[in-house]
Amino acid sequence: MQFNYVNPTQIFFGQGQIASIKQSISSANKVLVIYGGGSIKKNGVYDQVSDALSDANWSEFSGVEPNPTKETLDKAVKIIKEQGIDFILAVGGGSVIDGSKYVAAASKYEGDGWDILTGNHHVSDAISLGAILTLPATGSESNMGAVITKAETQTKLAFMSPYVQPKFAVLDPDVMKTLPEKQLLNGIVDAWVHVCEQYLTLKQDALVQDGYSETLLRTLKVLGETFNQRDNDKWRANLMWSANQALNGLIGSGVAQDWATHMIGHEMTALWGVDHARSLAIVQPALLRNQLDVKREKLEQMGINVFGLAQGKDLAERTIEAIESFYHSLEVETQFSEYQGSKEEAIEALIEQLSDHGMTQLGEHQQISLDNSRQILSHAIA
Ligand code: NZQ
Ligand code: ZN
Repeated sequence: MQFNYVNPTQIFFGQGQIASIKQSISSANKVLVIYGGGSIKKNGVYDQVSDALSDANWSEFSGVEPNPTKETLDKAVKIIKEQGIDFILAVGGGSVIDGSKYVAAASKYEGDGWDILTGNHHVSDAISLGAILTLPATGSESNMGAVITKAETQTKLAFMSPYVQPKFAVLDPDVMKTLPEKQLLNGIVDAWVHVCEQYLTLKQDALVQDGYSETLLRTLKVLGETFNQRDNDKWRANLMWSANQALNGLIGSGVAQDWATHMIGHEMTALWGVDHARSLAIVQPALLRNQLDVKREKLEQMGINVFGLAQGKDLAERTIEAIESFYHSLEVETQFSEYQGSKEEAIEALIEQLSDHGMTQLGEHQQISLDNSRQILSHAIA
């Protein structure tokens, strides 16, 4: 086991914590508040942010869409360059926070910001950024990743840079009160798959990472099973904290990681606008069955430690069934049927996207070739 680990994001967790950003933003800063389609105007978050910024010099940029596009974000980059903004406050879900990360890095680059996603520009500087999370799911509020879409070509790519990791993140569970049920379910599923991507790989006897991953999976399972208590402060706090911990870098330190479910899922979102979490539930069961031999030992461990299944030769297979049943219990589908044209055309369209984006050797051993992806998709697509 060998790794470097730091998570420099200061977390302000709990009710009323939006006011704490006063401590972290100086009155000398020129702040741009970035948000999405306006949910924060309806639920009081915008008002709390403006109160907290009463002594600050700030302006705003709204309209960042779910699955944020470079086309929209470049407008914010232009404003920042013109106005000499030196701090970004992202207020929203993963899309707004990811989008703000792109804006933070692209504002310190003279070329086309998309170069960051294609790898043609390596981020070496960014504007400082803080986050107020309104939708627990992605973990973006305290990690260094971002996923951005170029609408023009229907391309959804990710980048990682320590320069865009938020300096602080406010996690106030009260903001979840206005989340539609669908987004709460998305949060459970996305966080669940984040843990799986870092846990369901090869057996490495990393007891701390495995043990904490299992705690997070059991927590998310309980939150799914007690979904009827979603209007309860503790339920909300537990989802917000577990989704954060699922992708803040800790459980993935020093162990193999997969991320193939995410890479294939991103193509479904890019082509057909499938919600991020829903794309994962569609891909993952088929992918686990396709990769059964590679993942058998960890699936067996998960079966026992997360689902309490009995030993047996078919334990790994039963664990995949339990994962699938968990999604179905949340009324989240595990096959995609809303494509146009034939099933074969839908699969080929996805394979072409994967190929164009270099996603030809996915998985913990780069063992998932385009042929494997084709087989996976033949089960994932109805
Ligand atoms: O835009 P507004 O009006 O705010 O509405 C949003 C949006 O329509 C709404 N919403 C958010 N908070 C709300 C609320 N509605 C009512 N009350 C609230 N408190 O929810 C909708 C979805 O928001 P979005 O930010 O798109 O959802 P999510 O947090 O699931 O983010 C998904 C994006 O994150 C990327 C995904 O690919 C996708 O683009 N990911 C980022 C990751 C990362 N940075 O580490 C990892 C993930 O695996 C993921 O890929
Ligand atoms: Zn995800």
